[in-house]
Amino acid sequence: MPKPAAIEILDDGRAIAVVLPNGSRSRFHAVWLRDNAWDEKTRVPGNGQRLITLGDIPADTRIAAARCEAGQLHVTFLPDRRTIAFDLNWLADHAYDGASHRAAGWTSPGIETWDAALQSRIPEGDFGAVSRDQSALGEWLQGVSRYGFGKLSGGPVESGALFKVAALFGYIRETNYGRHFEVRTEVNPSNLAYTGLGLQAHTDNPYRDPVPTLQILYCLENSAEGGENMVVDGFRAAERLRAENSRGFELLSRYCARFEYAGSAGVCLRSRRPMIELAPDGELIAIRFNNRSAAAITDVPYGDMSDYYAAYRRFGELIDDTAMEVTFKLTPGESFIVDNTRVLHARKGYSGAGSRWLQGCYADKDGLLSTLAAIQMQAGRAA
Ligand code: FE2
Repeated sequence: MPKPAAIEILDDGRAIAVVLPNGSRSRFHAVWLRDNAWDEKTRVPGNGQRLITLGDIPADTRIAAARCEAGQLHVTFLPDRRTIAFDLNWLADHAYDGASHRAAGWTSPGIETWDAALQSRIPEGDFGAVSRDQSALGEWLQGVSRYGFGKLSGGPVESGALFKVAALFGYIRETNYGRHFEVRTEVNPSNLAYTGLGLQAHTDNPYRDPVPTLQILYCLENSAEGGENMVVDGFRAAERLRAENSRGFELLSRYCARFEYAGSAGVCLRSRRPMIELAPDGELIAIRFNNRSAAAITDVPYGDMSDYYAAYRRFGELIDDTAMEVTFKLTPGESFIVDNTRVLHARKGYSGAGSRWLQGCYADKDGLLSTLAAIQMQAGRAA
């Protein structure tokens, strides 16, 4: 590792500039460094939890001196004259000097938005392999994290098998629909004219806050004609809307829509959230889109409502665009998982003799991302 070429104390000790092992020159504030110290008086050795509050750090914390030695930056802080060592590689990984303003609708570097071109490389795992092998599981979860959905094949053909999929990475989110729900239709073989209704692509349960962040659909029978599942990347649809109509994008992200479900006794779920949700710094973080549970929108001022509706209509057209969809027909023992905050799912119409039986359940993304990160950390240590 190259030794930092220069250390410069700035602004009367309130900051320091360091040339880091990756060659970049980064400035760090004294209070930021002190808050992120890893010495045993600041963090619990082992679990790494912080022992102090910001109030324990003097407001006038300054840097009196700094030197580099063996990959560590030793900083002496005033007024308490404590010297704390910082790993230079850790500082390089956590440098913030280059952070800049990003345009609304930016996405995390860990994800990749897609359209129908993803059809030829659907992220897919084998149930047996991901159950046995942590690296196969990590690869599959990485695909789900990157693309917002993934297929799993070769699973058992038995009721409740979907719980085994959830157990690979996390926990079931139980709702008023139960721990799981049945998606089962018997097609009457004596009436071949019967056509099962298709469903427009949607995210599930936008009337909850928070929404279930993952959904698993597991196939047990699928001999009816049609009935394919289809997924659409809501983030790509939002990017397209932004590119062609930035005001429409802004309206759908600035104003809250409303969603409601009160379809069974004792249940009255309501939420007030935008169709396109951005973090305060503009990161695209969630899509909510479901024609069946959209309630009256009352949070858009009169002067913006026409444009809001035009944007809502266009967003739906982009979601319905066949150039956006990835389609697959599940066979028994196959399942798929979607990030319900991003990827919309739909069922195509089906007809003919046969039956279609899927089981569905919800789970949450924090468990999936935690399992993935733990596998990656373990693999990093082993490498
Ligand atoms: Fe659904």
